[in-house]
Amino acid sequence: MVFVIEGMQWGDEGKGKITDFIAQKMDIVVRHQGGNNAGHTLVIDNKKFALSCLPSGIVSKNITNVIANGCVINLDKLIEEINTLKEQGYTNLKLLISNKAHIIMPYHIDLDGAYEALLSNNKIGTTKKGIGPCYIDKAARRGIRIGDLLNKDYLKERLTSALTIKNLELKMLNKKPYDFQPLFDKLCYFGEILKPYITDTSLYLNNAINNKKNILFEGAQGSMLCLDHGTYPYVTSSSPLANSVPLNAGIPLKSIDKVVGILKAYTTRVGEGPFVSELHDETADLIREKGHEYGTVTKRPRRVGYLDLVVAKHTHRLSNVNYISLMLIDVLTGVNPLKICIGYELDGETIDFIPSTIEEISRCKPIYKEFEPWKEDISKIRNYNDLPLNCKKYISFIEEYLNTKVAFISVGADRKDTIIKEDIFKND
Ligand code: IMP
Repeated sequence: MVFVIEGMQWGDEGKGKITDFIAQKMDIVVRHQGGNNAGHTLVIDNKKFALSCLPSGIVSKNITNVIANGCVINLDKLIEEINTLKEQGYTNLKLLISNKAHIIMPYHIDLDGAYEALLSNNKIGTTKKGIGPCYIDKAARRGIRIGDLLNKDYLKERLTSALTIKNLELKMLNKKPYDFQPLFDKLCYFGEILKPYITDTSLYLNNAINNKKNILFEGAQGSMLCLDHGTYPYVTSSSPLANSVPLNAGIPLKSIDKVVGILKAYTTRVGEGPFVSELHDETADLIREKGHEYGTVTKRPRRVGYLDLVVAKHTHRLSNVNYISLMLIDVLTGVNPLKICIGYELDGETIDFIPSTIEEISRCKPIYKEFEPWKEDISKIRNYNDLPLNCKKYISFIEEYLNTKVAFISVGADRKDTIIKEDIFKND
């Protein structure tokens, strides 16, 4: 079976935990977009693994992990993560890297920072990891791909033409240009290290699909950060939607069996951009502290708000989620008043969709439904029926609004802290 995990909000929904959870039944786990702007934290038997480049199945012995063509890769960071795992005893990593994935070069990181500084008040609030500038070069056809590392003559050509343009741009922005030789030597060195992992992952995945392997595609970021369907321009430079998986991994459309949407029980976002259900009061502070809502990558405090089901519906409309995994609901214990945003008011009208421009979104006012809070600690509960009635009502409302079953309810960070409500592996 082929599963896709998709974040239904602005990222940081807890995808890493559910990916790791589902991955236990998978043969292959694939990252298909983004780069080290994503931070996945896995907690297994109290051991914490912070990953930003490697797929979430990497610490499981039997899983092959794939970084597909839609990704952009910071090689320093990737090698650092591989080495850290090796030091912890994970010496036989089953890892494949697409020869078509693009490399985040040091100048991409410089340019990301320089563009943001230039925009000052209108900045995007990027993670400054060079993601946007790397995807710009991919689209402009002057990117350097992982496969290029294995052919020194071709790499020389690619780097020479990239630097011709990039150094001009860097000079214009008062940034230091790059000398060819040290950069080239470093890329060759990376090529030597990564050679055993580099392959045509599209071929590999197609074979695996034909051989009925269980495959999980894990999204980074969330649907509202989609370059096309998110809150543009306050978005990332790839598409985290399940719809983008076939292109980002080189597999046929029809091969995807199920999409699991990851929905945090409240809403957060980092960076700039409109956020209709945002809170600026003590409820926000309470949720931020209880939920440890600080960026995994940048450590920035996350903006916090009530659950916004208009956002979730937008994601659902775009990519038809089969099941929902509801995350961090334990954080809502004691939150009073407890509300869910069920619609927006825009120019006197009630709407249940995300307007296409940020100007319109910024004018939307949230319409809330209030829920009875619950006080009980739910972090040790493993059975749906044992949850407090008010908590079950909150969950049932989400299911009804989205007309989709909640399959997993996460009540803590560890793999064990999960209530299984529906069997996502059954054939339906
Ligand atoms: P970029 O992806 O670094 O270009 O950043 C663009 C926007 O996406 C910024 O608002 C970032 O904060 C946001 N973003 C990127 N990656 C993540 C993530 O993994 N979680 C949450 N927000 C993210």
